[in-house]
Amino acid sequence: MILTKISLIHFRNYKKQNIKLHPGINIFVGNNAQGKTNILESIYLLALTKSHRQGIENTLIKIGEEQSKIKGTVKDGKIFRDLEIQLTKLQKKVLLNGKEVRKIADYITHLNVIIFTPDDLEIIKGSPSIRRNLLNIDMSQLSRTYLQLLNEYDKILKNRNEYLRLMYVNHLRDENYLSVLDEKLVERAVKIYKYRNEFLNRINKVIGTIYENITGTSGLVIKYEPNIEVASFEEASLNKELVNKLRKNRERELAQGTTLFGPHRDDFSFYLNNDNMRFFASQGQQRLAVICFKLAEIELFKEDTSTTPVLLLDDIFSEIDRKKKNKLLKYIEKDIQTIITTTDLKDIKRDILQDAKIFTVQDGTIEERMK
Ligand SMILES: Nc1ncnc2c1ncn2[C@@H]1O[C@H](COP(=O)(O)OP(=O)(O)OP(=O)(O)O)[C@@H](O)[C@H]1O
Ligand SMILES: [Mg+2]
Repeated sequence: MILTKISLIHFRNYKKQNIKLHPGINIFVGNNAQGKTNILESIYLLALTKSHRQGIENTLIKIGEEQSKIKGTVKDGKIFRDLEIQLTKLQKKVLLNGKEVRKIADYITHLNVIIFTPDDLEIIKGSPSIRRNLLNIDMSQLSRTYLQLLNEYDKILKNRNEYLRLMYVNHLRDENYLSVLDEKLVERAVKIYKYRNEFLNRINKVIGTIYENITGTSGLVIKYEPNIEVASFEEASLNKELVNKLRKNRERELAQGTTLFGPHRDDFSFYLNNDNMRFFASQGQQRLAVICFKLAEIELFKEDTSTTPVLLLDDIFSEIDRKKKNKLLKYIEKDIQTIITTTDLKDIKRDILQDAKIFTVQDGTIEERMK
């Protein structure tokens, strides 16, 4: 799918801005604090109705203004759709082809985006909970069922932890209710283990080749490190293992008032050949590995939906050398509409710039650069 144009009114540091986008590579160039990330944010918001920067909804409207509007047109095959988000300080309205849509789930399928921001490097470097969180966000975009499963699991987990504490404080011995919660928890847990395993297997089928294509180095894989010993990812086997773990650790769980085993304690790591990239890889290698992870997700997206999402790349060029920058752009250029922000166009080959659309961003104003 292609985002053909976008218009902003009173969004962040933009007053009024219309942009016509290129179906291939779009590069937004500008100094720090001019509004580059804000553009990507507006597109992400238009797609998913919330910002990729967390917990800051009330800073989206331009300071001093009461409301903001973001509009865009998406071309999907032969069909054109108009998307619109209206923000006031108190509410958010989403519109499809000029009509208000009340169920967000009905809206967010119309523009698919995959975003890379420097914060995504945490998927390699961050704490396990940050890494899991980033993985969950990405997987949820690929599968609604997974998102639903996660929500159910989290609710049951919360109940179970509360009940464990209650049992401990009140010296309750009756374990009937706990068993009911266990059964519900394990049922979802098993499915989450399977989903994650399958997702990472599918990523691993493509990520190595993509990384090699861009960097010349082979051997990139993501290893899943579930929180229980896994003999096989068969449901029955996962079920047995988790049930055993919970049974054996009941006293410990009661004493600590928390659930010690389950996918909420999973981990995964990027490996380049046999080295964990968290400890061994350079900054540039980590950055490229995460970008390749996003490119691998695009491949999965294409397989599942037969559409190509729009790729948003925030500030990707720092720490990447000339050769790899150009290889990366060559890879994308084939068939992915991409929106890139950067502070300079240094090192980018002329033929790539020739085919791309370049925009200059300065103090909340965007101008298309003439060739
Ligand atoms: N609600 C708002 N109203 C007005 N200005 C805002 C609002 N929110 C953010 N800004 C301003 O937008 C400016 C540009 O932000 P943005 O993050 O897009 O910069 P950038 O071009 O990506 O810079 P960098 O290269 O440093 O990443 C910031 O200086 C910020 O003060
Ligand atoms: Mg920025």
